[in-house]
Amino acid sequence: MELASPPLSERRIVLGITGSIAAYKSAVLARELKRRGAEVRVVMTAGATEFITPLTLATLIDRPVHSDFTEDEHAGVWTNHVELGVWGDLIVVAPATANTLSAMVHGQCENLLQAVLLSARCPVAVAPAMDLDMFTHASTQDNLRILESRGVDIIDPGTGPLASGLVGKGRMAEPKDIADQVEAHFQRTLPWSHKRVLITAGPTQEPLDAVRFLGNRSSGKMGFALASAFADQGALVTLVAGPVSLATPERVHRRIDVSTAVEMNNAVQTCWADMDMGVACAAVADFRPTLTSDSKWHRANMPEAITLEENPDILHGMGQSKSDAQRLVGFALETDEGLDSAKGKLVRKNLDAIVLNTLQDNGAGFAVDTNKVTVLNKNGQALKFDLQAKDELAQKLVDLWRTTLIA
Ligand code: PMT
Repeated sequence: MELASPPLSERRIVLGITGSIAAYKSAVLARELKRRGAEVRVVMTAGATEFITPLTLATLIDRPVHSDFTEDEHAGVWTNHVELGVWGDLIVVAPATANTLSAMVHGQCENLLQAVLLSARCPVAVAPAMDLDMFTHASTQDNLRILESRGVDIIDPGTGPLASGLVGKGRMAEPKDIADQVEAHFQRTLPWSHKRVLITAGPTQEPLDAVRFLGNRSSGKMGFALASAFADQGALVTLVAGPVSLATPERVHRRIDVSTAVEMNNAVQTCWADMDMGVACAAVADFRPTLTSDSKWHRANMPEAITLEENPDILHGMGQSKSDAQRLVGFALETDEGLDSAKGKLVRKNLDAIVLNTLQDNGAGFAVDTNKVTVLNKNGQALKFDLQAKDELAQKLVDLWRTTLIA
């Protein structure tokens, strides 16, 4: 089974709409941003409401649209523009008229959208829309240059027939292209942008009969925390998960659910060659029963002994086929101090680093929410991480590997 989280999930986008005929396309843009998982709030200028109704937008984003400083004048309820500017991860003004671009340059605050823009702490993107002569006019071009120099993303308008009947540059970019640029914005601003990372997590279950299996106590928490931390940092994460009861972390690109070690190996084999990095956190069963039964064993028909055969060593296979550009990290779960054993796995499996956790340490290893690890690098360096939440640890490991393995 494969589950994918939409690319903009958990992203908060304030969509500003100003008075241009292109405002009709903003409805499609709002729907597209939502479809890609973003949470969208809309701020419209009075001019925009002449071209498209707030009701249309409110229906599409499933929440009220903001257009005035006051929501209910008589009740004294006002729209908190500061809150909107702080809430968003990105403000997209689409369409952005020549007038709004000029107001942004001069810090004007004559309507709610301008007030939101002036108090915004998040990045801003604008998709200009206007007639061709207005677009090429020196003042508009100067304004765009100034905005760009202040870090505003300019989403270039297209060329074609304009509302005036003239043909030229000035048509607002198509909603799909704007949504693509919004996605690209989040990708390029994060440290692991464009990096493809494969993570294995959880246990494997090796069937004995129709109801029993050989397995282990891995909950998947450590691997899922890593998947979440990598995805938060912009990586395109493929998560191969054994049987666990955990929800797919936000922004994980692809999840492949498997049950046995052979299935996990097959899933890994299909995608490892395309990856920049692999992290094997799964607790894979090294052996599986030679014979299994499709029905349930009862006392009367129990086998006298259970014989086992070897499962593939998935990580070893990844290490064998690893290219010079790929990086590979394994985990080692030990029951003693474990340093020598972990070092042996690092070398044998051709890894760049290995994360050692031992059941000797209270609060480390299987099922708990915390872990205590030592990271061993192939250059002999050892880094100890104190007992801490798996989520926190995962973020630190992802930061560490950004500088030591991928930089
Ligand atoms: O899932 P949690 O409850 O959060 O627990 C986390 C964890 C304890 C499972 C995790 O931190 C961990 O240590 N994972 C690796 C467990 C393990 O199988 O270690 P190992 O020393 O047996 O294996 C060494 C490495 O080879 C591991 O990266 C493992 O994924 C890999 N391996 C092992 C056997 C096999 N047949 N194929 C493999 O790929």
